[in-house]
Amino acid sequence: MSTGSDRAAAGPGRRTVLLSGLGGIGALAGAVGLGACTSGATGSTGAAASGGSGGGADALRDASGHAKARAFRGERQAGIIETPQTYAVFLAVDLPAGADADSVRRLLTIWTDDAEKLMSGQGTLADLEPELAAVPAGITVTVGVGRRVPELTGAPVPGWLAPLPAYKIDKLQERWSGGDLFVQVCANSPTTVAHAVRRLLTNMGSLGKVRWQQRGFREPFEGPGIPMRNLFGQVDGTVQPDVTGAESAMLWIGSQGPAWLAGGSAVVVRRIAMDMDVWDRVDRESRENAIGRHLGSGAPLTSPADAPSTAAADLDAKTPLGFHVIDDGAHMRRARGDNKEKILRRPYSYDDAPEVDPATGRMSGLSNTGLIFVAYQADPLAQFAPMQARLAEKDLLNLWTTPIGSAVFAILPGAKDGEILGQALFG
Ligand code: HEM
Repeated sequence: MSTGSDRAAAGPGRRTVLLSGLGGIGALAGAVGLGACTSGATGSTGAAASGGSGGGADALRDASGHAKARAFRGERQAGIIETPQTYAVFLAVDLPAGADADSVRRLLTIWTDDAEKLMSGQGTLADLEPELAAVPAGITVTVGVGRRVPELTGAPVPGWLAPLPAYKIDKLQERWSGGDLFVQVCANSPTTVAHAVRRLLTNMGSLGKVRWQQRGFREPFEGPGIPMRNLFGQVDGTVQPDVTGAESAMLWIGSQGPAWLAGGSAVVVRRIAMDMDVWDRVDRESRENAIGRHLGSGAPLTSPADAPSTAAADLDAKTPLGFHVIDDGAHMRRARGDNKEKILRRPYSYDDAPEVDPATGRMSGLSNTGLIFVAYQADPLAQFAPMQARLAEKDLLNLWTTPIGSAVFAILPGAKDGEILGQALFG
């Protein structure tokens, strides 16, 4: 990756970028952004250092190790097996009524170009603020599709590409559920994420409409061995399948097909509200019992409190009174089941402003907090669904958590050289 001073020497000044951006608006109005204006994009890497922060600040950010660009092209999309970045936006898009295979192809062509540029630290076509892309901050853009897309292109639709079964704990809201296309944007800078989302959506033009958008974050300053702490204070994301080794078939779609998804995956996105106000009234022992783990270290309750989070849990261990040390309703026991189905969890917290009560016009309650539960896997009906069914039947966490949104998408394979995302959908 180039340094700030390299970029300052090579790129145009702020005025050039502004003018090239204006050219881009004209191009967008005529042809949904493709084809006309490349100077905003190619010039973007040059603009960062001249935009005010200076080479010194850029160099510092580069040195932190969080500013790196990631490869876009390859067998698989990025943003799945990498360590999750600190900030994320997840969004679903609906296709307009008259959409057809050609309009979907155009949208995926635009997003392929956008994602490739953004992940290499460049502004997109017609980017008015390419400076905001110049620190890629490890950005990944990951694209998926709902069942309407293969239906439109005539490709086979896998049975799992549909809404999940209804669970009795669900209080799903339309505004957080469903969608024809999915985009996940993650980076270690909230500015990088905000800019990328803006570019992807403006370049989409009338080819799609945002259905929902969820903004999440993870704690960047936890110590080693702690993947993340959710807003209940629990260490979250410890037990994961070995997706780069023996259990990779649980994540990636292979010969089981369909062929257009070979090298792709599937994602389940559940928005789960966490009732912080009731949780606040629970003592620490009950909180630990609910999950089956120590809150501080994340170690299972069958290990000392200062053991590492990765210590193996003994699900058979009993108290002197004959009860399981890890409660029969503890979340970790119920989620694990017989350990046959596994999912790669990539959760993010959300903490939005409390909702406004339409009757009073004022905010209601103290919090609007929860988890954007994002889980990658090869087959949601075979993996996520039985797990969620067990949790819906019995899970102490249900006292404080409520699923309010749900969506399933097929994650496209990576785009190889010369391809667009979803290339195989179009014959
Ligand atoms: C707000 C909702 C949720 C919270 C706060 C939560 C929190 C946690 C925590 C703290 C752990 C223990 C540490 C770890 O291994 O990551 C855990 C484990 C786990 N959770 Fe959740 N979780 C939630 C929802 C779900 C859902 C909806 C599912 C799937 C349907 C799920 C599946 C799992 C699995 C598979 C494990 C690992 C179990 C093991 O083998 O030890 N979780 N969760």
